[in-house]
Amino acid sequence: MSLGYNIRMFQAEDLNRVMAINFECLPENYSSSFYRELYSRFPETFIIAEADGDIQGYIMCRVERGFSKLRSLSPARLLHVVSIAVREQYRRRGIAKALMFEVMKRGAVSYDATECYLEVRVGNDPAIKLYERLIFTKTKRNYGYYLDGEDAWVMSLAIPSKGKLQ
Ligand code: ACO
Ligand code: ZN
Repeated sequence: MSLGYNIRMFQAEDLNRVMAINFECLPENYSSSFYRELYSRFPETFIIAEADGDIQGYIMCRVERGFSKLRSLSPARLLHVVSIAVREQYRRRGIAKALMFEVMKRGAVSYDATECYLEVRVGNDPAIKLYERLIFTKTKRNYGYYLDGEDAWVMSLAIPSKGKLQ
């Protein structure tokens, strides 16, 4: 197993593999038409990571018009991270961080996104640590957000203009 990985845009033929990774890593699973809709509307922010000749992680997003979760009453274009996962054997080598940076950069450049947000289970320590490492802040608690009753943190980050991230 090499430590290297490659980040690229999702393509239609990647769908089965991405759905399998989602199923393996998360209890929130989606129909193939849900993935296809995100891909057709927001192709720039549906990104996969390859290592050892196969896809090992993905991130998919939606861009929404709404209000900032960081500054009250400010209109914002929100990059909503719908789902991110990296296969267990490939974790802790920076893949999720690279996927997050890539969608924030592309979201800003291609869709004028000004802010990034997501929901995460309050008990999902690895994911919360990842987002805190990227200086996201907890902006809201959604009680009973998940089907099994667990609460979600909404976590948010202002995207530097045109995605100029380090
Ligand atoms: N414990 C502590 N800190 C962690 C952990 C962990 N298990 N995982 C990530 N971090 C933090 C660390 O600061 C890490 O940097 P370091 O390794 O230099 O210390 C930093 O985040 C970057 O970590 P990455 O290596 O980029 O993260 P990874 O590729 O391992 O993926 C992820 C993290 C996506 C959360 C992975 O654990 C996973 O797929 N989990 C299952 C699916 C999941 O929970 N997805 C998120 C659900 S919420 C949503 O989809 C919006
Ligand atoms: Zn969401």
